[in-house]
Amino acid sequence: MDDLKDHVAVVTGGGRGIGREVARELASRGARVAVVSRNPESCGSAVEAIHAEFPGQAAAYAVDVADHTAVQEVAKRILGDLGGTDILVNNAGITRDGLLMRMKEEDWDAVLDTNLKGAFNTVKAFMRPLMKSEHGRIINIASVIGLIGNAGQANYSASKAGLIGFTKAVARELAGRAVTCNAVAPGFITTDMTSELPESVREAVLAKIPLATFGEPRDIAAAVAYLAGPSARYITGQVLAVDGGMTM
Ligand code: NAI
Repeated sequence: MDDLKDHVAVVTGGGRGIGREVARELASRGARVAVVSRNPESCGSAVEAIHAEFPGQAAAYAVDVADHTAVQEVAKRILGDLGGTDILVNNAGITRDGLLMRMKEEDWDAVLDTNLKGAFNTVKAFMRPLMKSEHGRIINIASVIGLIGNAGQANYSASKAGLIGFTKAVARELAGRAVTCNAVAPGFITTDMTSELPESVREAVLAKIPLATFGEPRDIAAAVAYLAGPSARYITGQVLAVDGGMTM
C-alpha cells in the first residue's frame, strides 16, 4: 500500500519499540520518515533497518524532546532536509515508577517533561508545516494508564492523561486548518519498556486482558498508520484504545 506516498512523517522515540515499528510502517506506505530519538545509535540503526527494506525512506535525528530549544533547532534541520511535515507522531515516552510515598520530585519532572512537555515542544516546532500540508496529522501515543490510572505510576498516569487533554485542545485549535489530532492508547505491548517488569506484574496484567494476550508494536503501528492515512480524514480529537479490550 502506498497511501502515504510523498508524505513526510516525524516519529519521536523512533529508535526502538513501538516508535521503530511506527516509523517502519509509515515508510512501508511510502512516507519519508524522520526518525527522532535522544539516542543517536538507536535512531541510526532504526534508519539502517528501514533503508534495507525501503531505500531512502528515512533519516535519523538525535534530540531530547524535553529540550524546547533543541527541538526547535532539529525541526529546522528536518524541514530543510525533507521539505515539510505532514504527519507528526509523538511517541517518545519514559517511566519512572514508584509509589507516591517514595516518588522523588525528579521522577515526576522527568516523566512529565518527556511525555507531556515533549509533545508540546514538537507540536510547537512543526505546527506551521502541518498547517501548510493539505493532510496534516498529529498522533499522540498515550496509554490506557492515562485513562484508568495505576498504583505506582502517578507521574506516568498524569503525563498520559495530560497528553489526552492536550490532544483534544490541539484538535480543536487546528481543526480550522484541516489538521487532525488524535491519540492512540496502547495497553500492554511487548517492548523493552515492559520487559523490565517482574513476571508477577506481567501475569497480573495478562489476567485483565479479555483477548488474553499482550499486544505487539505492529498492533500500534497499524492504528497509527490508519489515523495518518486518507481514510481517517474525518476523525479528530479521539482516543483509540489498542489494548486487547482492557478498557472497554
Ligand atoms: P521504549 O522504551 O522501548 O522506547 C521509547 C523510545 O523513546 C526510545 O527510542 C527512547 O530513546 C525514546 N525516548 C525516550 N525519552 C526520550 C526523549 N526525552 N527524547 C527523545 N526520545 C526519547 O518504549 P515503548 O514501549 O516503545 O513505548 C513507546 C511509547 O508508547 C511511550 O510513549 C510509552 O509510554 C507508550 N506506551 C507503551 C506501552 C507498552 O506497553 N510498551 C503501553 C502504553 C503506552
